[in-house]
Amino acid sequence: MEHCPEIKVALLGFGIVGSGVYKLFQRQQHEFPYKTGLCPVVSRILVRDLSRPRRGAPAELFTNKWEEIVSDPEIRIIIEVTGGIEPARTRILEALAAGKSVVTANKDLMAEHGAELFAAAEQNGCDLLFEAAVAGGIPIIRPLKQCLAGNYITEIMGIVNGTTNYILTRMSRDGMDFEEALRKAQDLGYAEADPTSDIEGYDAARKIAIMASIGFNSRVVFSDVYTQGISGISAKDIAYAEELGCCIKLLALARCTPSGIEVRVHPMLLPLDHPLATVHDSFNAVFVHGDAVDDVMFRGRGAGELPTASAVMGDVIEAVRNIRCGCTGRIGCTCYKHIPVKRIEDTENRFFLRMQVEDRPGVLANVASVLGNNGVSIAQVIQKARTVDTAEIVVITDLVQERNFRDSLAVFSGMSVIRKISSVIRVYSE
Ligand code: NDP
Ligand code: HSE
Repeated sequence: MEHCPEIKVALLGFGIVGSGVYKLFQRQQHEFPYKTGLCPVVSRILVRDLSRPRRGAPAELFTNKWEEIVSDPEIRIIIEVTGGIEPARTRILEALAAGKSVVTANKDLMAEHGAELFAAAEQNGCDLLFEAAVAGGIPIIRPLKQCLAGNYITEIMGIVNGTTNYILTRMSRDGMDFEEALRKAQDLGYAEADPTSDIEGYDAARKIAIMASIGFNSRVVFSDVYTQGISGISAKDIAYAEELGCCIKLLALARCTPSGIEVRVHPMLLPLDHPLATVHDSFNAVFVHGDAVDDVMFRGRGAGELPTASAVMGDVIEAVRNIRCGCTGRIGCTCYKHIPVKRIEDTENRFFLRMQVEDRPGVLANVASVLGNNGVSIAQVIQKARTVDTAEIVVITDLVQERNFRDSLAVFSGMSVIRKISSVIRVYSE
């Protein structure tokens, strides 16, 4: 197409995602005029350390001076792929105040400061788009905000952290222990440099906070999410799960119930015939239930250079189209309700409880009576491994009030016949 006007874009960050975004700009440059009616070009790339050698983009594009970018009126779109809260938050606010549209992959920021950023975008009539912030290359933000807008969404459940899914897959399929599987995930570049946020579930908690806010039209922030990671899961738990016809997955789960929003991230025993049980390695998937659509599932690559860049580029193309049509800021914050978030103690769950007990008559009856006295009904008991005077028992409960189950655990911790509570893992129930 001839005489296609240019529109300048600045890329903040040239790491895994930023370099992928730049590659897609190169791959797509001949398509942009047809897709958007304009020619977006990356005119500046902001990095922290200018002295580092950079491959993949011309040296003259790089700068470490944010002021040069934010004060350039020709730059209409900012792509923020630096990560973290500050200075990303301040820079996005400054970009919006300067009338620039913003595309970001920053889940930390959106899960904690989404309301503030949306207010700034609305005030300035700009787009704030963040498809890459949840589940990398999988389209989920736009489907929730737009395609499924005609539904009351009641459940969002997903595997949204590639690192932990890879670790659990290797432990289950190859018999690796946790440490070995984590090292492998790090070698393959899935895990963060400091993998705590992956392993302890914080990364998934940020993603489910964002999805719940959009799905239920009510603000849910990172600190609302009950979070438990996978560092306590052992090969033994996985073996028991398999015996019970289940696998163990780190699930992010949000439900909109008549008594409030339930939102949590924790490992869960999931029946092998559940669609999410077939999502292995570093793949992600999100399962959504709406009153009209019924169940839908989105599956794909949740991290990595080009899958994440794919989501970023989709947003850039949307922002360019909106600028061309003079309709930026068309879809702003969709959190127009104020639904309370329930405490985990007030939710109902089924539990897998593995413990080491004294191997003598009456102990199992004691365990059953503590659970019974606290209103916890037992669905199944397994007793297997025995050492000289210790037996390992596994109890699977029916659906019970979390508070009642915790009360039982508190009693167990004071009983001398119970040597150790080895694992407590929730069990999926519809
Ligand atoms: P990287 O650490 O690979 O890259 C970060 C880039 O940002 C680097 O180029 C770095 O500069 C630059 N940067 C960091 N801080 C500053 C700063 N204060 N000023 C200027 N430049 C800065 O991160 P990723 O590419 O992996 O992640 C980027 C974002 O994308 C994060 O928000 C992450 O959560 C999100 N994301 C990442 C995914 C992935 O698979 N990696 C998937 C989905 C989302 P320098 O090179 O000089 O150090
Ligand atoms: N560390 C994240 C994961 C990638 O393992 O899924 C970015 O979301």
